[in-house]
Amino acid sequence: MSQRLRVEELSKTFHGRRSWRTMHTPSVHAVDDVSLTIEPGQTLALVGESGCGKSTLVRTIAGIYQATAGRIFVGDADISDRRALRRHRRAVQLVPQNPLSSLNRSRTIRHALTQPLRVHHIGADRSAQERRAATLLEQVGLSADYLPRLPVGMSVGELQRVVVARALAVEPSVLLLDEPTSSVDLTTKARIINLLLDVQRSFDLTCMIITHEIDIARHLSHRMAVMYLGRIVESGLTEEVFNRPRHPYTQMLVASATAADPLAGRHTGDMPRGEVPSDGSHADGCAFSPRCAHTADVCRAVPTLRAVGPDHRAACHRIEQIDTAVP
Ligand SMILES: Nc1ncnc2c1ncn2[C@@H]1O[C@H](COP(=O)(O)OP(=O)(O)O)[C@@H](O)[C@H]1O
Ligand code: SF4
Ligand SMILES: [Mg+2]
Repeated sequence: MSQRLRVEELSKTFHGRRSWRTMHTPSVHAVDDVSLTIEPGQTLALVGESGCGKSTLVRTIAGIYQATAGRIFVGDADISDRRALRRHRRAVQLVPQNPLSSLNRSRTIRHALTQPLRVHHIGADRSAQERRAATLLEQVGLSADYLPRLPVGMSVGELQRVVVARALAVEPSVLLLDEPTSSVDLTTKARIINLLLDVQRSFDLTCMIITHEIDIARHLSHRMAVMYLGRIVESGLTEEVFNRPRHPYTQMLVASATAADPLAGRHTGDMPRGEVPSDGSHADGCAFSPRCAHTADVCRAVPTLRAVGPDHRAACHRIEQIDTAVP
């Protein structure tokens, strides 16, 4: 049964090695003070370019990384505590970015699907667990014929279905999907999108889908959150954020998503340029300022999220001055 996912002021900092020359310990604030809520049964798309902290955020929610600060709730249960997480581990399942690397290449699909059942004591005996594994494969559009197969030699689309089935095996309330459509061709992408829509509906799940493709986000989600260097810079109903992006970074993502479509006629005049810094380093004040075409003195302070419309928030000091008419 789906439950509300609530993340409160979550941060995750990675500390590098101290340099013997400068005696400085570099740290990356991969997730910085993130708060978000996904209502039961809804899907939130988390969008942003590579290096913005999306995977770190879901890996922290899934308990793979220990949060540096903040709390995570599934329903009323606080799962940010390590001991509580063990009890609630079943409730939150992550479908990782690279399906092949998350499967043991020398073990069969049968093993991949029945192992979580054994760990969580689901199914009366081995044959019940195997029947459940076969049913799961059918539910993701594969068949029991895959049970004795090894991951090697399977297509990315098939592997993606297996890892979705493995996540569903333990009947989670919350499903986190990290770039489920990256590294697949267009036809497979369409199939995976349809599979995810089906799965979300028939399994009654609360979902978070990470993607750097804003058009995929639009297809799959009720709400959208845009992340830049560890912080949420805009959030709201997906159609509202897509049709009226207010933050310069979101405007850039939307404009580049529609650039291939000449009929879309998106505004590209003062579009930001450049890339996410590869070392995750932040400018002082607004982290987006080195790429922003609207920077002013006020941007030396870190902007926080504020209402910019009904159920729509953005973190930018100059919203009122920026052309919002991205048609
Ligand atoms: N295990 C790690 N150790 C140190 N730095 C990391 C680790 N994982 C991610 N990072 C850094 O955190 C930042 C965000 O990375 P990531 O969460 O993978 O972003 P995204 O998924 O949006 O591409 C990057 O600067 C990345 O180099
Ligand atoms: S706060 Fe300033 S630098 Fe940051 S996005 Fe807004 S205008 Fe650009
Ligand atoms: Mg990632």
